[in-house]
Amino acid sequence: MRLTFLTLLLAAKSRAVVRFHCSQLVVERLDPLVNPGSIPSSHVHQIVGGDAFNATMDPSRDLPAESSCTTCQFADDFSNYWTAVLYFRAQNGSYKRVPQLGNNQFETARGGLTIYYMQDAIYDQGQKSKVQAFKPGFRMFVGDLTARTLSAASHSRQLTYVCMDTWTSRAPETMAFPTRPCPEGIMTSLRFPTCWDGKNLDSPDHRAHMSYPATGTFESGGPCPDSHPVRVGQVMYEVVWDTRGFNELEWPADGSSPFVWSFGDATGYGTHGDYVFGWKGDALQRVLDAPCWFDTDCAEESNSTLQSIEAMNSCSQKVVVDEDIDGLLDVLPGGFHADYGHGEV
Ligand SMILES: *[C@@H]1O[C@H](CO)[C@@H](O)[C@H](O)[C@H]1NC(C)=O
Ligand SMILES: *[C@@H]1O[C@H](CO)[C@@H](O)[C@H](O)[C@H]1NC(C)=O
Ligand SMILES: *[C@@H]1O[C@H](CO)[C@@H](O)[C@H](O)[C@H]1NC(C)=O
Repeated sequence: MRLTFLTLLLAAKSRAVVRFHCSQLVVERLDPLVNPGSIPSSHVHQIVGGDAFNATMDPSRDLPAESSCTTCQFADDFSNYWTAVLYFRAQNGSYKRVPQLGNNQFETARGGLTIYYMQDAIYDQGQKSKVQAFKPGFRMFVGDLTARTLSAASHSRQLTYVCMDTWTSRAPETMAFPTRPCPEGIMTSLRFPTCWDGKNLDSPDHRAHMSYPATGTFESGGPCPDSHPVRVGQVMYEVVWDTRGFNELEWPADGSSPFVWSFGDATGYGTHGDYVFGWKGDALQRVLDAPCWFDTDCAEESNSTLQSIEAMNSCSQKVVVDEDIDGLLDVLPGGFHADYGHGEV
């Protein structure tokens, strides 16, 4: 069935569903968007993209010019994309970081995340909406790290988890952490809002310059609100967490999840993602305007260069925050403990 879809899409392609991978650049406590200049920032992140990433990323910085390499497959993409990292909380209270995997078709990548830029819903064969690329200096944030309940999390849309029974499982999606062992790991998906105010490259909460469609969803072609009239591509991240090594350990007797985000959230509702645009010149707009499907095809149709996975993996950054994030920890880096929404434990 999936193959049929793909074949149809290739036969009838019009505009872009771009899907590509970026290997891990660095894992540490830096966050130039929410805690600019702080070394360390509040909690641990996993970051991908151009190696101009730093504790301070003024919007006037020229990321393509300042980067010497990128961990992304599109060689002209020097953006930075990041998320928190996952820890397993053992029943004796100690924490251990959950490793990451590449994704389907990117198995040899060093962790990182898979990125989509879409014009319409992924399985919409039309893909005919014109969407605008971001401008230099643009950045945004999705999610709410204080959310510990479904209602708090529902201010954002489509920030989800899949308990992977197989390597290609993509459903069902939940908004909380899976509460059973997942044979092939856990996938988190983060979908950013798709309507821009057309003026501001950022906003104080890094969210207000962006909006969801006024009615419906991006997938249903919902129109953008008057306040945020510019329809941009749907940016989506997929991150695969290798939880397999924790499936045989003792899990909480009360049926709750043993996983905790690096900022203490033990519910999963606080999941969030950060985006700093850094494509070179018009490279992203060319891709968004090209009729294409996924990495190789989109590169060909837009005259873009793709890097091999080996080249992506060879780009990395020296850690600046010197601390143990991978041992058996009594407390999460930055001082966080598991928070189930009714106090830390
Ligand atoms: C980050 O910026 C500081 C000061 O501007 C510089 O010393 C450091 O080398 C930079 N780090 C990276 C990884 O670029
Ligand atoms: C706590 O549990 C983990 C996972 O079972 C184990 O690896 C670790 O040794 C335990 N720590 C102590 C102090 O017993
Ligand atoms: C790609 O390059 C060819 C040959 O130079 C050109 O005709 C075409 O317009 C280019 N396409 C894009 C999307 O830039």
